[in-house]
Amino acid sequence: MAILVTGGAGYIGSHTVVELLNAKKDVIIVDDLSNAKVLVLKRLETITGKKIPFYKVDLKHKAQLDAIFAAHSIESVIHFAGYKAVGESVSNPLKYYENNLLTTINLLDTMKKYHVNHLVFSSSATVYGEPTSMPIYESSPVGGTTNPYGTTKLMNEMIIQDFVKVHPGFKAVLLRYFNPIGAHASGLIGEDPQGIPNNLMPYITQVAIGLRSSLSVFGQDYPTVDGTGVRDYIHVVDLAKGHLAALDHIHSLEPISIFNLGTGKGTSVLQLVAAFEKASQRNISYTIAPRRPGDIPVSYANCDKALHALQWRTTKTIEDACVDSWNWQSKNPKGYN
Ligand code: UFG
Repeated sequence: MAILVTGGAGYIGSHTVVELLNAKKDVIIVDDLSNAKVLVLKRLETITGKKIPFYKVDLKHKAQLDAIFAAHSIESVIHFAGYKAVGESVSNPLKYYENNLLTTINLLDTMKKYHVNHLVFSSSATVYGEPTSMPIYESSPVGGTTNPYGTTKLMNEMIIQDFVKVHPGFKAVLLRYFNPIGAHASGLIGEDPQGIPNNLMPYITQVAIGLRSSLSVFGQDYPTVDGTGVRDYIHVVDLAKGHLAALDHIHSLEPISIFNLGTGKGTSVLQLVAAFEKASQRNISYTIAPRRPGDIPVSYANCDKALHALQWRTTKTIEDACVDSWNWQSKNPKGYN
């Protein structure tokens, strides 16, 4: 029995595949490679010493998805596949609604047809919109998302919840990620953004390697420790292990379970820059820029629920993540290219 990982060639997906294979699970990857490179698969095989069945399939093509379910004995699905560029989702909303929603709908319908009853869904802290208090609990209000990408995450959560209500025996775990950073310690897999990075850590590593001249720090007048935005940065390997914990505990969970996956600690932009400089022994040049539209001042999680129900907790520090992000970037100056 295998675990089907959609988007398994992506940043979080690929790290999760490593943890699943290390735990002796069988894995099948489906990815359309729209935002991932085929080289990832070779790297995964180097890390794990295992051959991984791979299908280059767009989940919008239901017949192709169906064929995968027909060909394999699948016990559960981890669904990462989806477009994730916040800015692009604002300029091209229909692309995001069509892709991110239709893929989930096709997946659920195919799981139903083949009686595959366990789903772990890749959600995001973005579903909390503009939180009014910290830390963020799973019970904190959702909604008020500030871009179509975030709205598709929330809509997917709702689609899955409505589906579960009318399908007894089906169980879904919705994992709301905070800010993943870091890379596998081998330096063979990591985050490989296309074009100018939107996210802070890949921007920092590209400045460190000389691909970009200077980081723009978006806002220094937030009500935070040093005026810059605060986020809950979680090492991607800790995050990956959260998926394994979710699958391992799914039998004892409610039909729908929601977990924050973060560290519970907030780190400011300038604190992350300082930690990275220390880890890499590189100077990160930066300038203060205006606030970025849609950004919230502070976001960090309460993760007690995952600790109690999944026995999951993070073990890696911000410093570990900086070391690993730099190891990945310095060994792969142009990512997978
Ligand atoms: N930042 C900069 N300069 C940059 C990039 C980011 O100062 O070049 C700052 C941001 O203003 C913010 C912090 O760094 O204060 C983190 O920004 P990211 O873009 O790395 O992360 P976000 O918290 O904005 O976004 C992340 C994910 C989204 C998700 C969102 C909410 O990238 O997919 O968290 O969960 F929707």
